[in-house]
Amino acid sequence: MWGGRFASGPDAIMEEINASIDVDRHLYRQDIAASKAHTAMLAKQGIITADDAVQIAHGLDTILSEIEGGRFEFRRALEDIHMNVESRLAELIGPAAGRLHTARSRNDQVATDFKLWVRDTIDAVDAALAGYQRALAERAKDHAGTVMPGFTHLQTAQPVTFGHHLLAYVEMAARDRGRFADARRRLNESPLGAGALAGTSFPLDRTMTARELGFDRPAANSLDAVSDRDFVLETLAAAAITAMHLSRFAEEIVIWTSPVVGLLSLSDKFTTGSSIMPQKRNPDAAELVRAKTGRVAGALQALLMVMKGLPLAYQKDMQEDKDSAMDAFAALMLSIAAMTGMVRDMQPDTARMKKAAGEGFATATDLADWLVRVLKLPFREAHHIAGRIVAQAAERGVALHRLPLAAMQMVEPGISEDVFSVLSVDRSVKSRTSYGGTAPRNVGATARKWLRRLDREGR
Ligand code: ARG
Repeated sequence: MWGGRFASGPDAIMEEINASIDVDRHLYRQDIAASKAHTAMLAKQGIITADDAVQIAHGLDTILSEIEGGRFEFRRALEDIHMNVESRLAELIGPAAGRLHTARSRNDQVATDFKLWVRDTIDAVDAALAGYQRALAERAKDHAGTVMPGFTHLQTAQPVTFGHHLLAYVEMAARDRGRFADARRRLNESPLGAGALAGTSFPLDRTMTARELGFDRPAANSLDAVSDRDFVLETLAAAAITAMHLSRFAEEIVIWTSPVVGLLSLSDKFTTGSSIMPQKRNPDAAELVRAKTGRVAGALQALLMVMKGLPLAYQKDMQEDKDSAMDAFAALMLSIAAMTGMVRDMQPDTARMKKAAGEGFATATDLADWLVRVLKLPFREAHHIAGRIVAQAAERGVALHRLPLAAMQMVEPGISEDVFSVLSVDRSVKSRTSYGGTAPRNVGATARKWLRRLDREGR
């Protein structure tokens, strides 16, 4: 392609390190779409003839079907997707193929292709996350009143509902989707027509190609257009945060399905056995989701390091933007699918959850709140009294609601029979009706709100 300046071919190692076709072949659809938009624009602007444009477009269509039909031979010697396509075009249509690259460089071409690819990925991730949210909200609706222990420091803290816990992940996924949507909005400016770095002397219509490819507008600065990889970084950052969220839930699945804890079980669909221990049921899918987070975060870090020392404009370093990013997005999509599957599959042990919710004196805060509300004590004092009553219960080895009234009255004489109305775990969750609280009524309403919202989005 640059034979004019070169007399001999590259060293084998040069080809090995330089070729990107194994990775950027995945951009073939975007590459061909951008070339078609460029061709149509060149013809409309009178830069190439209508005749040549028709030939080029036909040739590109043929190449698309060859690639999709597995009939295309990708060649390493041709370095990348751009030159593989162009070289095949020359075989198919002859000299007219040489006009396609007028007023274009691989620098604006690859930026355009990868933006389109990342944009498609964002849309796919968004749809997958919406499906994950739906699965969570459906289970939350069914378990709006299922009481379980809520944890802080992984110690039993206060009773919550299983539905409330699931809805926490719906909120996280909503913020994740928001981050992807933000990245998409900023991404959506077309680099095509920036040329190698300086723009071009040809009378391009960059707005036309931008519109044709679904961009909002052309990127305003040609140097920036070819050297910007923020769109990958931002999307990887959104992906890393999403993967971190999935990993936290995966970790809970691993803990909760341990026989020692036993709050949750997974079916044969999402577990594996052991080759030596016949009793084992391992939550491998959850563990792998947890692990894949490393890849996603690693890809973000890798590209930040690739970019941090680069002067303007395009540098070949930037070719390293695709491999780990593509791997990271694939890992993320698989993780979302696995989590969605596990959410549908998981069976809470509701009896065990309820029993565990009542252990560890989880309604001690309810007792303190009762002392504030009924005896008008300051909360700090109430906290102290409740603590002493907990100590009494612990000493006798009984749950708070099994402690005789007389024992409580020894600590605080003002306590009446009415206190028992707040000490059960059911009463505890039912009372937490503050906005965003765990009361089953709140949880049911919020789950239904999410399902309606997803319906409206057509998800
Ligand atoms: N394969 C290259 C990449 O992915 C395409 C751009 C090459 N540009 C250049 N000036 N060598 O970045």
